[in-house]
Amino acid sequence: MKIGLLTGGGDAPGLNAVLRTAVLSAVNRGWEVVGIRHGFAGLLGEPDIMPLNRSSVSGIAHLGGTILRTTNRGNPLCFPVKCDDGSYVEKDCTDELIENATKLGITALVAIGGDGTLGIALELVRRGLKIVGVPKTIDNDVSGTITTFGFDTAVNTAIEAIDKLHTTAESHDRVMVMEVMGRHAGFIALHAGVASTADVILIPEIPYDIEQVCEKIISRDREGHNFSIVVAAEGAYSKADMSGHSSATMEHRAIRAGSVAERLTREIHNGTGKETRSLVLGHLQRGGAPTGYDRLLATRFGAAAVTAIQNKKWGEMVALQSPNLVTIPIEDVLREPKRVDPEHDIVQAARATGISLGD
Ligand code: F6P
Repeated sequence: MKIGLLTGGGDAPGLNAVLRTAVLSAVNRGWEVVGIRHGFAGLLGEPDIMPLNRSSVSGIAHLGGTILRTTNRGNPLCFPVKCDDGSYVEKDCTDELIENATKLGITALVAIGGDGTLGIALELVRRGLKIVGVPKTIDNDVSGTITTFGFDTAVNTAIEAIDKLHTTAESHDRVMVMEVMGRHAGFIALHAGVASTADVILIPEIPYDIEQVCEKIISRDREGHNFSIVVAAEGAYSKADMSGHSSATMEHRAIRAGSVAERLTREIHNGTGKETRSLVLGHLQRGGAPTGYDRLLATRFGAAAVTAIQNKKWGEMVALQSPNLVTIPIEDVLREPKRVDPEHDIVQAARATGISLGD
């Protein structure tokens, strides 16, 4: 038995802990393991692989990033191939990928990634490869699992930043707007905002009204709290933005990092007259050592993925459905992305403590 491990999409704290556990679980079964570098792209052209053994995964569980490297541009189903005239065309390179995997003697693959990587894995399973998935993303937007590793670390990084913004905002009687990641999901903003007692939290699942946001800030001033903290998900948008658009259009629009913070800062200053500053937390949320929670979850996922291979769960993904780890069909996972339920108790707790959701 020879298995291949790969990490795809954006990195997330905990990837190395998954790799370490998967390698040790496989080696302890007497299996051989190879790492495929740069996601599925590492199986195209001249394969970019490295043998993995006990010593190659020693001392990595607490490290951020991925020893296998990753990319969010290596989709073999539409891979950019250079033409003679120097231009690029997108080609379906799955036949080449499958041929390379077969030549390398890889019996099965563990694909660790978010919805993009899992979607590629599912297509490759349909074309004959044996793959199990492990959900990864700081955004926590993968269905079927209560949480993904990387999310807790990102939330803690955001909380630390908001705590620091609090003291400077209060000292200067300012409004501080902090934009966090999450793509089209508001989990990081909601969890970090509630835990750090932000005053306004804006998430894509609850379109905001800028007048309500400004009213909240002005009412705090009236009560003698002359500063406010606004935490906005990068995917947040206003009710006005929605006019004439379906929610599906809003889901698929491109997100430009920093644009939400930039816009809110301008609009809040104009609407309240208050000095307003912004911070785009950006990739800090993806870096650093995984929290204890993420390390443990990643370790559980790594072990469960190897068990899933042993049980021939091709096309399935390991998932946390507390208190159990289960495997579920990737097809079901991808049917609908996970989003914040606007009625969730965390949203209700936010409202109960006076946090404005901007609606
Ligand atoms: O999916 C993880 C994520 O960090 C998102 O939160 C963010 O929108 C995106 O990746 C950023 O991607 P990139 O690293 O390509 O800028």
